[in-house]
Amino acid sequence: MTTRRPFVGGNWKMNTDRAGASALARGVVDGLVGLQGVDVAVFPPFPYLLTVASILRERGSSIRLGAQDASDQPDGALTGEVSLAMLRDCGVSVVLTGHSERRHVLGEGETIVHAKTRAALAADLECVLCVGEKLDEREAGRTNHVCEEQVRLGLREVPPEHVDRLTIAYEPVWAIGTGRTASPADAQDAQRHIRGVLADLYGNDAASRIRIMYGGSVKASNARELFAQADVDGGLIGGASLKATEFVAIVKAAAGVGAKAATL
Ligand code: 13P
Repeated sequence: MTTRRPFVGGNWKMNTDRAGASALARGVVDGLVGLQGVDVAVFPPFPYLLTVASILRERGSSIRLGAQDASDQPDGALTGEVSLAMLRDCGVSVVLTGHSERRHVLGEGETIVHAKTRAALAADLECVLCVGEKLDEREAGRTNHVCEEQVRLGLREVPPEHVDRLTIAYEPVWAIGTGRTASPADAQDAQRHIRGVLADLYGNDAASRIRIMYGGSVKASNARELFAQADVDGGLIGGASLKATEFVAIVKAAAGVGAKAATL
């Protein structure tokens, strides 16, 4: 029977310094020693990837190294960009695309999100495609429509053989960094709808295997209830991932909930 292991990511965003990133990585690694049944990734800022990679390696950790962004282009005259090959060279195995801060603060449109998602999966990396509605869209009853459109546009021309490396992160924009969390029922409703869209695109079996994380003001105190929902397969954590003890507690909550059976 298909089951989905929970997956928890720590998105450090543009935070930490070199010493802080090292201390955080060590704290997370040490706090999770011996914990099983959950996949974990950390997404440090680019300049600290190698530092964190060497800490993970020297401690024999299974925590994956993630990148918060990547270029869709292989190389060339693109000042400031970082390619997927460079990231892989630094030990990265998973890449975020479509994060709401890149979409709504930095102005990345669907074309770029799509190109990055397609390129990351084609480069044999795992990809976490982030989707989510803004507050006015939720209030207008458009949550499912917005998420569906972002999933469909982000995955255009992504072949079925690549989606086993795909995770979706449902991150309602109004819940990110605001202390406002979607209720477990709201997260479940949106994520159920997203799974239905994935089933329409790739069939029930593939959609049953793809993990859908929730992100937006997840804390140790609310993690378990969110992760217990049938279509919530872990979380993408921002602010609370910057404190090792808090992040470790969230990962343990996911491990405690355990794997989910397919419901399609
Ligand atoms: P917060 O957990 O700080 O709300 O951020 C969520 C997020 O954007 C993770 O990618």
